[in-house]
Amino acid sequence: MSTADNHYFQYKGCNFVSAIYKKEHLEQLEHFEIKDSDVFIVTYPKSGTIWMQQILSLIYADGDLDDVQSKPTMQRAPWIEVPNSNFPERPSPRLNVTHLPYHLVPKALKAKKGKVIYVARNPKDVLVSSYYFHKHFALYESPKNFPDFFEKFIDGRVEFSCWFDHIRDWCTHKDEFNFLFLTYEEMQKDLRATIQKICNFVGRQLDDEKLDSVIKHSSFETMKKDPMANYEGIPKKSPGGSFLRKGTVGDWKNNFTVAQSERFDKIYQERMKDLPLVFTWDKE
Ligand code: A3P
Repeated sequence: MSTADNHYFQYKGCNFVSAIYKKEHLEQLEHFEIKDSDVFIVTYPKSGTIWMQQILSLIYADGDLDDVQSKPTMQRAPWIEVPNSNFPERPSPRLNVTHLPYHLVPKALKAKKGKVIYVARNPKDVLVSSYYFHKHFALYESPKNFPDFFEKFIDGRVEFSCWFDHIRDWCTHKDEFNFLFLTYEEMQKDLRATIQKICNFVGRQLDDEKLDSVIKHSSFETMKKDPMANYEGIPKKSPGGSFLRKGTVGDWKNNFTVAQSERFDKIYQERMKDLPLVFTWDKE
């Protein structure tokens, strides 16, 4: 990251968008107190964060939709790295979300206080989703073109830096946390089973009717129409371009050239060879 580029600043090796984040807040949050009842959704951007915010807040609403339908997802499960997230003052149980790399989260979380749900998505689809997001949303630098953005993503010259480092650091340190690893693709394949896994992990039980309601209200179609679940209010560069864009597995095939795909595969194999992770790259 060039220091002349003031779109981002670096804090302890990680890139943050200057218009959103503050160094002082990032320093403080490492010392936040964590309660056993705290739950943290952890993602690299564009991996299904808003989907998990919606699911988790629906599970905790226990069938009462009023709160969920009257507050945007980012208020129900705020980002701890955003300066006005009010994490210390919020009542329990606190649902949170973060894109932070492993080394920047509150230190107390690493002593198995609270719970972490890490959601990963195949990185080719993350790259494509991120490209369109940067094209349409106002606080983000417009990509010059897809090939240029592809290079930036691979080098980690994007917000929250490198996808490969993010997943490696979280997964290799997972035993320091109460940790549940999920993928976007398994959510797509069997949302009911994924929601049940989450319920078991956080210690909440839902009867069949409530489970059906969580599934219904976290479907792509329902969320896309719901202004509380689709970030309708965030500033855009021009009309068009929605946060819930395609919501599929394998859209990279419509955007990568064969050469880009082969190059990405080579880098993926080198960078991920000793991590026991398997991603789904295409719709099953
Ligand atoms: P696409 O751009 O590929 O459509 P994040 O919240 O981490 O920024 O992730 C956004 C991505 O998750 C977008 O991907 C969005 O469409 C997808 N997404 C959000 N809610 C979803 C849902 N209910 N079902 C499937 N995909 C969803």
